[in-house]
Amino acid sequence: MAGHSNYVPQSAAAKWLESRLPVISLVRGSFVDFPTPKNLNYWWTFGGILFFMLISQIITGIVLVMHYTPSTAAAFDSVEHIMRDVNFGWLLRYMHSNGASLFFIAVYIHIFRGLYYGSYKAPREISWILGVVIFLIMMGTAFMGYVLPWGQMSFWGATVITNLFSAIPVVGEAVRTWLWGGFAVDNPTLNRFFSLHYLLPFMIFGVVLLHVWAFHTTGNNNPTGVQPKSNQDTLPFHPYYTIKDLFAIVVFMILFAYFVFYVPNYMGHPDNYIEANPLVTPAHIVPEWYFLPFYAILRAVPDKLGGVLAMFGAIAVLFILPWLDTSKVRSGVYRPLFKQFFWIFAINALALGYLGAMPAEGIYVILSRICTVYYFAHFLVILPLLGFLEKPLPIPASISDAVLASGAGKPAAAVAAPQSK
Ligand code: HEM
Repeated sequence: MAGHSNYVPQSAAAKWLESRLPVISLVRGSFVDFPTPKNLNYWWTFGGILFFMLISQIITGIVLVMHYTPSTAAAFDSVEHIMRDVNFGWLLRYMHSNGASLFFIAVYIHIFRGLYYGSYKAPREISWILGVVIFLIMMGTAFMGYVLPWGQMSFWGATVITNLFSAIPVVGEAVRTWLWGGFAVDNPTLNRFFSLHYLLPFMIFGVVLLHVWAFHTTGNNNPTGVQPKSNQDTLPFHPYYTIKDLFAIVVFMILFAYFVFYVPNYMGHPDNYIEANPLVTPAHIVPEWYFLPFYAILRAVPDKLGGVLAMFGAIAVLFILPWLDTSKVRSGVYRPLFKQFFWIFAINALALGYLGAMPAEGIYVILSRICTVYYFAHFLVILPLLGFLEKPLPIPASISDAVLASGAGKPAAAVAAPQSK
C-alpha cells in the first residue's frame, strides 16, 4: 500500500516513530499521496461507501450486543426490549437491520461496476477474488444475523438452509447435526450463530485490508480500462477522492436515513415479528431480498443436491471469471457486444430476484430454470466466445487523451477526431 509517499518526517517525534514503525508514510502513501486515475466516476465511490457501511454495522452491532440475549427463551423478548426500553435502541436496531440491506445494495453496485469495466481482469484478479471472498463472508454473516431475533422467518430460514447440507452424499446428515449442535435448529444453533455473527465482520475487515492492498499494488482500474501512463493520468487520492467519496457517502446516508426513519420495516418480513415456533410453518418461507436470486437458482433445480450445487456454483463461477473472459479489451465502454450482454445479464439477475420471492410452482419454476441456465451461460459460454467474436472499438492511447476529448467513456474514435485537427 505504501511506496507512493515522499513523506519526510519533520518533528523529532515523527522521526522517532518512522524509524521504528513507518505508519505515517504507510497511511500517506495509501490514502493521501496515492496516485489515482483522474477519470474515476461515481461508480468508484462505492468502495468507500462499503467501508463506511462495514464500520456502521460493526459499531451498531457491538452496542446491540450489550442488550441482546442469545438464548431461545430470551432472544425474541430481548429484541423487543431493545426496541421499546433501551435509549435509542430502536435506532440502533433499525440502523443495523436496514444497514445490512444497504450494505448489500452497495456491494451489488460495486460488483456490477467491476463486471462492466472489467476490473476483474489482469492484473486485478486477486482484488476480485478477495472481493468474492468478502461477498461470501458477508452472506454468511447476514444469514446468521437474521436468525438472532428468533422470529418465525429466523427459525424457518435457518431450518431450510441448514437442511440443504443434508443433501451432501454420505456425510450430509452428520454435517447437518454438527451445524445444529443437536437434532434440530435450537438453542445451541442460536448460540453458535451468535458467536460467528460477531466474529465474521472482523474477518471481513481483515480481508478488506488485503483487498485494498491488492488494488493499491496494481493501481485502480478506471472507466477507460487503460493503465495510467504518466503523472498526467493520475491525481493524489487526497483531496480529490477523499472529498468525492465523502460526498457520495453523505448522499448514500440520506438514502439510509430514509429507510431507517420512514420505512424501517419495508425490506423486512412481517412474520419475523412473530416469535419462532417449531410447530407452525409459515405459508411461504422467503429469505431477505439480497439472497433471492440465489434462492431462485436453488429452487430451479428439481434435485436437492443439484440445487445446492447450482446455488454454490453461481458464486464459484465468479472466482474463475478472470479466466473466462477472453477479450483483450478491459472496459465495457469499448466492447459494443459485451455491453448488450452485460445489460441482459443484469436484467436476468433482477428477474431471478423476483422469481426467488414467488412461490416455487407453475410458470415461476419454468422461468427460474431459464434464468438459471442464462446466468451460467453468460459466464461459461457468452464471455469466452465474445473475446473471439466481438470487434472492439478503438481504445484511447491514454486516460488523458480520453479525458481531454469529450470526457471519459467516449470511444477513441471520438478522441482521435479533435486530435487530428
Ligand atoms: C466490505 C466489502 C468491500 C469493501 C469495503 C470494498 C472496498 C473497495 C474499495 C475502497 C475499492 C477502491 C474504490 C472502488 O473501486 O470503488 C475497491 C475496489 C475493488 N473491489 Fe471492492 N470492496 C468490497 C467488496 C468487493 C466485492 C464483493 C468485490 C467483487 C466480488 C469487489 C471487487 C473489487 C475490485 C475488482 C476492485 C478494483 C477495482 C478498481 O480498482 O477499479 N469488492 N473495493
